[in-house]
Amino acid sequence: MEKRLKEKINDALSYIKSKCSLTPEIGIILGTGLGKLAEKIEDKTVISYDKIPHFALSTAPGHAGNLLIGKIGDKKVVAMQGRFHLYEGYSPEEVTFPVRVMKAMGVKVLIESNAAGGMNRNFKARDIMIITDHINFTGVNPLIGPNDDTLGPRFPDMSEPYDEQLIELVERIALREGIRCHRGVYIGVTGPNFETRAEYRFFHLIGADAVGMSTVPEVIVAKHSGLRVVGLSCITDMCIPDRLEPVDFKRVIDVASRAEPKLTKLVEKLIREI
Ligand code: HPA
Repeated sequence: MEKRLKEKINDALSYIKSKCSLTPEIGIILGTGLGKLAEKIEDKTVISYDKIPHFALSTAPGHAGNLLIGKIGDKKVVAMQGRFHLYEGYSPEEVTFPVRVMKAMGVKVLIESNAAGGMNRNFKARDIMIITDHINFTGVNPLIGPNDDTLGPRFPDMSEPYDEQLIELVERIALREGIRCHRGVYIGVTGPNFETRAEYRFFHLIGADAVGMSTVPEVIVAKHSGLRVVGLSCITDMCIPDRLEPVDFKRVIDVASRAEPKLTKLVEKLIREI
């Protein structure tokens, strides 16, 4: 019989604990081309996803596939260098399983990063958007199915998925460091195709500022688990319907890597000041 979610979490947790006894308080998910924050983690234990029970494998380009546990300043952190996406064929439960494991490890705050297409005309490529809210447009939900009340409530509140205090902290750091940052709404889709002009027009019309193929399922599970969440999007390409240029994934990775130093700086300072 398929194991229950709680048992799977415990299997993964036992394996991780056998490799590293640190209890991290901050979890970080490093998105497309943004894995270099890993270099800032000191005294780290690196665990490949393929060793962790019930973890999926990272198949997406720009995603390394390691769980890193260590310290940034005096903060104990666990970071996913590479995440799982619905477009890889993973179920919503598989995509969000690492968030459950992070929570079980002791994490209280989850920092999300991703590469996203910008639909707000005030944005430009390489800007950073602090996610203030999201629209789940994936057509699925990781909480569908029997609810384990010990993991979270059947009907979790979503009135403030992204923690306002942490948003303000990121803004203060960005201002101090001279990093251009916007606030905005992220719409999550499954991909893998980029959107049509009509879809970008629609997404912007319904209130989204940026679009991407990750984050939303993870944040739903993070909120279900009672975590505080902060989300940062790196705008890699502009998606303005009337002057749309073809998006090429290589360029997305390239722009994300060029924006990486400032995102890394922002996240590093945020961790130190949380
Ligand atoms: N859509 C459009 N552009 C993007 C995306 C997306 O999902 N991700 C990164 N750039």
